[in-house]
Amino acid sequence: MRTETPVTLYLKDYAPPAWRIESADLHVAIHDDHAEVRARLDCVRNTAGGDDALVLNGEALELVGLSLDGAPLDPARYVYGDDLLRIAGPLPDRCVLESVVRIRPDLNTQLSGLYRSQDGYFTQCEPEGFRRITFFPDRPDVMTKFSCTVEADRARFPHLLSNGNPVAAGVCDDDAARHWARWDDPYAKPCYLFALVAARLDVLEDEYVTASGRKVRLAVYVEPGKLDQCGHAMAALKKAMRWDEERFGLEYDLDQYMIVAVGDFNMGAMENKGLNIFNTKYVLARPDTATDADYQGIDRVVAHEYFHNWTGNRVTCRDWFQLSLKEGLTVFRDQEFGADTHSRAVTRIQEVRALRVGQFPEDVGPMAHPIRPASYAEINNFYTATVYNKGAEVIRMMHTLLGREAFRRGTDLYFARHDGQAVTCEDFVAAMQDASGIDLAQFRRWYARAGTPRLNASSSYDATTRRYTLTLTQTLAPTAYEKRLTESGQAIVDGTLHIPVALGLVLPNGNDAPLKLAGEAEASGTTRVLSLTEPTQTFVFEDIPAAPVASLLRDFSAPVQLEFEQTDAELAHLMAHDDDAFNRWEAGQRLATRVLLAGIAAQQRAALMRHTLPHAGEDDSWRGAGSDWIPDAFVAACGRVLDAGLAGDPALAAEALNLPAEAVLAEAVVSLGQPIDPEAIHAARVALRRHLAARLRDAFEAAWAALTPTAAYAPDGAQVGQRALRNACLGYLAESDVEYLQSAVVPRLTAQLAAGGNMTDGNMTSQMAALATLANLDLPEREATLADFYTRWQNEALVVDKWFAVQATSRLPGTAARVRALMQHPAFDLKNPNRVYALIRGFCGANPRHFHAFDGSGYALAADVISELQAINPQVASRIARSFDRWRQFDAGRQAHARVALERIAEIEDLAKDVAEVVGNALKG
Ligand code: TRP
Ligand code: ZN
Repeated sequence: MRTETPVTLYLKDYAPPAWRIESADLHVAIHDDHAEVRARLDCVRNTAGGDDALVLNGEALELVGLSLDGAPLDPARYVYGDDLLRIAGPLPDRCVLESVVRIRPDLNTQLSGLYRSQDGYFTQCEPEGFRRITFFPDRPDVMTKFSCTVEADRARFPHLLSNGNPVAAGVCDDDAARHWARWDDPYAKPCYLFALVAARLDVLEDEYVTASGRKVRLAVYVEPGKLDQCGHAMAALKKAMRWDEERFGLEYDLDQYMIVAVGDFNMGAMENKGLNIFNTKYVLARPDTATDADYQGIDRVVAHEYFHNWTGNRVTCRDWFQLSLKEGLTVFRDQEFGADTHSRAVTRIQEVRALRVGQFPEDVGPMAHPIRPASYAEINNFYTATVYNKGAEVIRMMHTLLGREAFRRGTDLYFARHDGQAVTCEDFVAAMQDASGIDLAQFRRWYARAGTPRLNASSSYDATTRRYTLTLTQTLAPTAYEKRLTESGQAIVDGTLHIPVALGLVLPNGNDAPLKLAGEAEASGTTRVLSLTEPTQTFVFEDIPAAPVASLLRDFSAPVQLEFEQTDAELAHLMAHDDDAFNRWEAGQRLATRVLLAGIAAQQRAALMRHTLPHAGEDDSWRGAGSDWIPDAFVAACGRVLDAGLAGDPALAAEALNLPAEAVLAEAVVSLGQPIDPEAIHAARVALRRHLAARLRDAFEAAWAALTPTAAYAPDGAQVGQRALRNACLGYLAESDVEYLQSAVVPRLTAQLAAGGNMTDGNMTSQMAALATLANLDLPEREATLADFYTRWQNEALVVDKWFAVQATSRLPGTAARVRALMQHPAFDLKNPNRVYALIRGFCGANPRHFHAFDGSGYALAADVISELQAINPQVASRIARSFDRWRQFDAGRQAHARVALERIAEIEDLAKDVAEVVGNALKG
């Protein structure tokens, strides 16, 4: 039997809860094959009249006992079915409900609720996991004071943790082998922030003194033996605490702040009050096990979860439609933390790259939604790049429109008004508007409109009047989201957006022109933020001494697709002279995209000439199209970027030499109204890399040598930048002809990998750069090196993940078969999300050419995995299923294969709701 379409929930149907739970006291006893959860809830009627019954969520709970105000409840008074416990009235306005349930954490492979990982027990309650622990109104607008006693075997689980402050602990009276610990959280919170841990752990402790002089115990708990990998996370936590005091005036509010790392976790980390639970990936780091990117990821995720203490916990969401209220804002905060502690420009470039690779495609796919969707079937499917990353862009635009000081007045007002409340996105915008006096009514449409707006710009310069005229036009085409809304009879929000367009005018001499809009008395500033509030608007600048080159959307001031005709020479001028580092990079990317689009067309012509489509077995398809389409000026510009990087900022140069990703090029092809040809895209990109390698070999060699490290490894900005550029050079050198590869490059790669603990290359950043490069080369050294690497690191789970990922993302033919073989490897485990993400998402999400293979082999692989995984872990299976998002943008042959794969998943009996929503939307089209 086919699965039913999942039930859709609507934002417009929001109603306040009929009952509040003032306080909840839990007793969780962990036994060998089950846990017993006793809960005592102080229930208070919330709204007069309405439903008299008390309705609580409960999922996979075995009901053992239920009593009301001290008396066992007559079974005739309640029903438990369809994941709801319904206690019939009449009920007093206040009552105490006590329940006893049994749950099976050892069988919980979804990793939602209470589950076992290795030898410990952990929880994940956001968004709807608490109902898998006990009966409760599991919705974020029910804010409760929690206390919790955890009880377990003393020897196996020495650490018993929960939210808030520890208040008592002891050995069990009736069983000296067991112990208990009692915790009390003084802050009312929604149940999604509840957490408990029972495990044997090592702990790194430290202390933090807040701005107002309160002492806070900091603790990072990890699997025994990993204490030497916690230092960076602890340092990041202290940095984040200080930064939030300085930038936002926000202090920590409990006596303890605990982070617990766990190896089985669906997402990055979770901000449970006072007891964050983290994926090990965002805690553990040592120079020989973690890359620079890993270190940076730790900084950001530690900060993100810490920042949630105010943006998410003290002020929380009214309902899950408001998810971006806490996530968009908290991502914006962690981005600003990153920008203040590393390079602002490089941070911004990386964020925009992530937005283009992850969020823009979402807008053109079947799951398109605004940062606040009006409907969903499974909320787990809306922890998306749109809600998180575009959500952060929307907050950033308010920051741009208001300026840093007014924005800070806005957040101050938001906390003053709403501390302890569960609120909506409107409440946040209202605080910003009231604190700044800036009208944000039109701006609010960003919350309701899906899709990436197009910003068309055209300009002219009149030398006689010295006027520069810029005309901006915005358009936003309907997405799959509007289609879904219409089909279900929902109203669509449209209308013009308020788009902040930061602009500078770069003169022929390379300087910025002072900007004076027509009508202004004098010029002010060289970067101005224009407010585009109409479909089309014209801006006239006066006293511009010579024809300028416009630098639009400085620092990427709005998440839009810019359409602006600029010549190669103009882009080169911006690359060299733009004051805005982001736009210097952007000009380079636009130039590269232009070159690559020509290359893609050339590859397609060459393929036609061969009377055969290039296919995955033909690794040298890049040779077919020659290199006529690569202008010498582009090669020269790359050479200048490299020189500038050596003399100045190597991190920026590394970003500039990183050509637009295949996913971004696919987007550019789709914008031209053409189907995506993953072979041609891949071939063109590789061909351009090989051409640059051949033409700039001496420069890459010299830079590589000049960037040889001279100090012991540290993940600091200067070193990270040098390593990034050095590895970029090595990556290009590995695109050389076979002779040079074998004589000069491969020996270096293998030596680098053998370098183990030495100062130059004995860090994981260099190791992985070498391994990933070698994994793309069909040379005898490949297999032996991969095997050695595994042997060396088989006991370090996060390094084994990297080993799976480099193989999954390899360019080489036969990668799909290799992934299938690796699924049989003893170290592969479908139950471990990090493993699945490394191997399966690596292949489906980061290897477009092989995932979208013309013969459908990639799609078939994904369908096989999703089918099996959806019964084990629906959240992770659903994330993998999102790989099909773009399927309709390919040619008919690929579409046919994708449809077969999607239909095969859709037919599964009892298909998990998460996957049903994603696959259902994909097939609806
Ligand atoms: N709130 C978490 C964060 O952004 C996200 C999260 C952690 C999550 N675990 C989850 C979301 C499980 C859904 C399911 O920091
Ligand atoms: Zn978050």
